[in-house]
Amino acid sequence: MARRPRDPQWYKDAIIYETHVRAFFDKNNDGVGDFAGLLSKLDYLQDLGITCLWLLPFFPSPQRDDGYDISDYRDVHPAYGTLEDFKLFVAAAHERDIRVLVELVVNHTSDQHPWFQAARRAPPGSPEREMYVWSDTDHKYKDARIIFTDTEKSNWTWDPEAQAYFWHRFFSHQPDLNFENPRVLREMLDVMRFWLDMDVDGFRLDAIPYLCEAEGTNCENLPKTHEVVKQIRDFVDRGYPGRLLLAEANQWPADVRPYFGEGDECHMAFHFPLMPRIFMALRLEDTRPIVDIMGQTPPIPESSQWGLFLRNHDELTLEMVTTDERDYMYLAYSADPRMRVNIGIRRRLAPLVEGSRRRIELLNSLLFSFPGTPILYYGDEIGMGDNVYLGDRNGVRTPMQWSADRNGGFSRCNPAALYSQPIMDPVYGYQTVNVEAQLENSSSLLAWMRNMIALRKLFKVFGRGSIEFLPVENRAVLAYLRRWDRDVILCVANFSRFAQPAQLPLERFRGFTPVEMFGYTEFPRIGDSSYPITLGRYGFYWFELTEPADLP
Ligand code: NOJ
Repeated sequence: MARRPRDPQWYKDAIIYETHVRAFFDKNNDGVGDFAGLLSKLDYLQDLGITCLWLLPFFPSPQRDDGYDISDYRDVHPAYGTLEDFKLFVAAAHERDIRVLVELVVNHTSDQHPWFQAARRAPPGSPEREMYVWSDTDHKYKDARIIFTDTEKSNWTWDPEAQAYFWHRFFSHQPDLNFENPRVLREMLDVMRFWLDMDVDGFRLDAIPYLCEAEGTNCENLPKTHEVVKQIRDFVDRGYPGRLLLAEANQWPADVRPYFGEGDECHMAFHFPLMPRIFMALRLEDTRPIVDIMGQTPPIPESSQWGLFLRNHDELTLEMVTTDERDYMYLAYSADPRMRVNIGIRRRLAPLVEGSRRRIELLNSLLFSFPGTPILYYGDEIGMGDNVYLGDRNGVRTPMQWSADRNGGFSRCNPAALYSQPIMDPVYGYQTVNVEAQLENSSSLLAWMRNMIALRKLFKVFGRGSIEFLPVENRAVLAYLRRWDRDVILCVANFSRFAQPAQLPLERFRGFTPVEMFGYTEFPRIGDSSYPITLGRYGFYWFELTEPADLP
């Protein structure tokens, strides 16, 4: 049990891999992935170099929101195994120095949860009823936006049994818990204790901006909500120091910043607005959107860390862009309207960049060199595709492609029994894109990703250092310095589909030699004037700037 903590800020150097138990590997061949399957693939993950697994919800659930509709917080969905299987899996992950993050869906439950079943029957005002947010009218909290715009018309739904409306920020089968009622937080802390005692390394706090409501506000990021988050952090720090809280707050940087508190709320938070701007910059061949959003990103406390990602299990969200930017993104990345869902684009990384290996590498170079901890989405390390014909966000949640065998090697079941058909098109289908083939090919994307991860892990500066963007006249080229301790890293990236030159203002490093980090190649020494560089299309370099005395 008491294996950790080595460094309480371990998350700063982590490489996080996001996956769904259901989608990874099906050990008992019933068509659904399971913990035994995930355990059997830990060697693969260790070999890839990741150091932390973030598991999507695996709890009992009617599965109407892929498990984000929880009906029992203290068990494992029977299709994925048992609590025993979970414990074995956590122990096996820890043996390989892989940490495990689980989901804490704090904001809402399934309407099938016993709390809701009791609430709807309990008299108004009773403690059972008050576990959720009720109203006699659907006119309260009018200023709160609707998040799942494709499915929901209102944040209120009438419950005939309770004879009242209940509040929900997401699907109408996901009633929001009522954090005005102290019992709700007590229950949640109890749930946390349950999993922390099973040695999990932390939680992704789902949808935390919406915990509390207040009339006349948009019901997001309210002071009361921050009070709740502080209490959650206090609970962790007291009983389980070294465990992690990762905030899912899809907000502008200035609104996410308070979720770090003064180092007394979440340790990490996703940087949502950066991600669409990376894709925008790529299509525009202009790095301005990235520099702009990083300029709007406030400093964070010393112990805090951004979570960076290119893609995840949801749509590529366009909530944190302007209307014009949104229109542009739809135009650029979702020619087929089927690719859109809610306010976003439901596609995986490889198809978003038309399978271009160079662009995949370029985007990953940013993911691995920007300030924060990189979070990879399963399958993106082999360039998996998506299926826009599946409903909701299921097209980016298809089975992991292990080999060219039946069901992509994910399961030996009758293909009809699979929880989802695997990707089968000629470009991204499992016969073309799979782990086995890529393991055998030293120039595969998978091999490149392993290399990239290994390199990143050698340099703490990436997870811990400062960033400074260099002014470059050619806007297709992004140049930035990462610094930590004595390390100075220069990253240069070309967002254009053509070769580009740039002059880098590096005079202050006169006498230093840029050493290219993948091949350990010395480049010409930096002189008195700006440093000229040329990059191939979508090319990038990482250089260690080495002082004359440090050169071998
Ligand atoms: C955020 C999750 O990422 C998403 O998948 C889910 O649908 C909503 N929260 C609602 O739980």
